[in-house]
Amino acid sequence: MLLELDGVPQQRTGEAHGFASSKLSVLRKHPIFADLEPEAFEQLCRYAKHATLKRGATLFSKGDPGVSLYAVISGTVKMSISSSEGRNAILNIIGPGEIFGEMALLDGGSRSADAIANSNCELFVIDRREFIPFVKSQPALAMKFIELLCERLRRTSDQVEQIILLNLPGRLASALLRLTEKNKLEPQGRTIAITQQEISEMVGMTRESINKQLRAWAARDWVRLEHGAIVVLKAEPLQTLVEAGASDDGD
Ligand code: CMP
Repeated sequence: MLLELDGVPQQRTGEAHGFASSKLSVLRKHPIFADLEPEAFEQLCRYAKHATLKRGATLFSKGDPGVSLYAVISGTVKMSISSSEGRNAILNIIGPGEIFGEMALLDGGSRSADAIANSNCELFVIDRREFIPFVKSQPALAMKFIELLCERLRRTSDQVEQIILLNLPGRLASALLRLTEKNKLEPQGRTIAITQQEISEMVGMTRESINKQLRAWAARDWVRLEHGAIVVLKAEPLQTLVEAGASDDGD
């Protein structure tokens, strides 16, 4: 249960506290909910509870029962898996306007990954007991979930393909482009708030290789390295590396 977890100090219903429509618009803008009729959307908002999560807090762990769907209002949440030796792999970093936790929610199975707050976060939480009957009453919504799952499966297939077929620079370039794409509408443009350690856990390369490659690209003015962030200055040469699967080792 969310309230039993450390780092989730508040939870309250959106309706009772009259959340600013700017927060609820996070749900409205999501492709899954965008086409709901106004009454159905209002019903959804009544189910949405507000929660805050402190940076570094674990929201749930792989294997936990899946009792809620989450939508990020602000901040970012990392979906990751870890080995018994302490190695981590980051599957995705979920930012404002995105949802997560849909897999266990929909199939009633356990969580497929850990969810850890990458920064202080504000979330909407929707309980499975309310959400499943709601989805059943909205066939178009079920279809939208299928589309979301297909998109995630496609992305996972791309990642598997890249790990097997792309060289290290191609994988790193692809990850940077994917992350900047997500941030396209952010005011800070192409700045990715991510550490080199996190990038290494996303693409399956050592932090040292990541650092060497990024410094080589920084020398060419393709990227700029900032504390805890990477700014993509030129996307085209990175795209070329991805398409060619080129053997640019950064020297
Ligand atoms: P769930 O299994 O409920 O909890 C973990 C969540 O991580 C999962 O739902 C998805 O929302 C997300 N997730 C799991 N695997 C992936 C993946 N391969 N790519 C993107 N997101 C994922």
